[in-house]
Amino acid sequence: MQTSGLTTTISPTDIGQGDGVYISTYGCQMNENDSERMMTLLEMMNFRPVTSPDQASIIIINSCSIREKPVHKVHSEVGRYRKMKALNPKLKIGVAGCVASQEKDKLKRDIPLIDFVIGTDAIDKLPEVIAKVRQGEGIISARFEHSQPYHIETMVRNPGVSTFVNITKGCDNFCTFCVVPFTRGRERSRPFKHLIDDVNKLVDRGVREVTLLGQNVNSYTSDCGVNFAQLLKRLARETGISRIRYTTSHPKDFTDELIGVMAENQDKIMEYIHLPVQSGNSEVLARMNRGYTREEYVAKAQAIFKAMPNAVLSTDLITGFPGETDAQFEDTMSLLEEVPYENIFAFNYSPRPMTKAAKFTDQVPDLVKSARLTRVLDRHREIAFDLVKKYDGQVLKVLVEKAVDDGRIQGRSTQNKSVYITGDAALIGQIVDVRINESRPLTLKGDLLQ
Ligand code: SAH
Ligand code: SF4
Ligand code: F3S
Repeated sequence: MQTSGLTTTISPTDIGQGDGVYISTYGCQMNENDSERMMTLLEMMNFRPVTSPDQASIIIINSCSIREKPVHKVHSEVGRYRKMKALNPKLKIGVAGCVASQEKDKLKRDIPLIDFVIGTDAIDKLPEVIAKVRQGEGIISARFEHSQPYHIETMVRNPGVSTFVNITKGCDNFCTFCVVPFTRGRERSRPFKHLIDDVNKLVDRGVREVTLLGQNVNSYTSDCGVNFAQLLKRLARETGISRIRYTTSHPKDFTDELIGVMAENQDKIMEYIHLPVQSGNSEVLARMNRGYTREEYVAKAQAIFKAMPNAVLSTDLITGFPGETDAQFEDTMSLLEEVPYENIFAFNYSPRPMTKAAKFTDQVPDLVKSARLTRVLDRHREIAFDLVKKYDGQVLKVLVEKAVDDGRIQGRSTQNKSVYITGDAALIGQIVDVRINESRPLTLKGDLLQ
């Protein structure tokens, strides 16, 4: 078996010989973007994407390790391919993504069905890895490239109307619950000039909206000293892109300068902000190593609404972090009343390997975690239904993204709501005015204004 340090240069153009590739993707937008990159690289080697694993000669599971459940899914998915592999000796199975970076060679030792393991930092080595795997070698390429600059170009096969653009990789924050710094390595930013060129090239291919991606986009720092607020402003002013979104923000690095840039460029920078809080209690936040208090977070949210009264916030919450008392949990409940979130992503705390919080001795019982989660989700559902009533009768600007099956089209409003309209597919790629007549927390329905 070979470990990283792949050095062979192989002309990759016909290694695939038209064979099928199936990639299943778990986790966040980073993984979605990485899967697209892998598929682009494989198409360049004359593989073709297939929609079902039994048509494939290469199966890649792009895994997520953020909580225990997604990791279990990887193990059970590999298990489902056992029979297929016995019937088709040509079939090669690989694991990519955060479980690959976390487990490395252990993954292949534990599950011998796996032919290759490719870490989050090794995606661009995929052609070499696949060439060797097709020759019967078992490959593990999961080393972090800490010393290398972050130079990539966005790779999308059919970019469509809206696409993701990585601006940073990795994370240096080490929140005590989170595995990401261990699975994505140290934080690196792409050079500013590369991003301007990348976005302009996407615009030339018909893209109208980009979502800038990073674990903590707010700590973007280019080689020439451009910070995140300045990057947004310059992308808005110096490229032909119509709409800019970004995710994820870290509240501790969400600056007044950024709020100012957003407020001044609302025609281009969308007013939807995902601002993960995790807990409404300052002591819990300190034990999470989040770097802000409840009061500082609330003050930031208020500053956002003051500068942009139409801003929309969403957040992430963790219930049952080690040591979280009933009273501390009530602070999370009260935060829901204080900050108007139109959407939340809430999960039970899940101990992760290598993280500090997994070693905390005051773990909360699962039943308590789940009861708290249910309360958060139930209360938030009521709040969200009330909040979105305001959209009834409003006229929103919707970028049309695709046709849906029954003569309707779907797009997204500036607030990041999915909007369904009766209309023609010829409107795809256009920004249209829509009067809303039905509002739910994530989806709106409306009529096109001519
Ligand atoms: N970089 C982002 C979050 C990325 S992970 C940020 O700092 O906000 C996405 C979300 O998964 C987190 O916001 C958190 O709510 C959740 N999460 C991460 N680790 C978790 C764990 N161990 N248990 C439960 N939820 C977790
Ligand atoms: Fe994880 Fe914290 Fe980094 Fe977000 S900022 S990816 S929660 S360590
Ligand atoms: Fe999961 Fe890795 Fe994303 S752990 S959430 S796929 S960064």
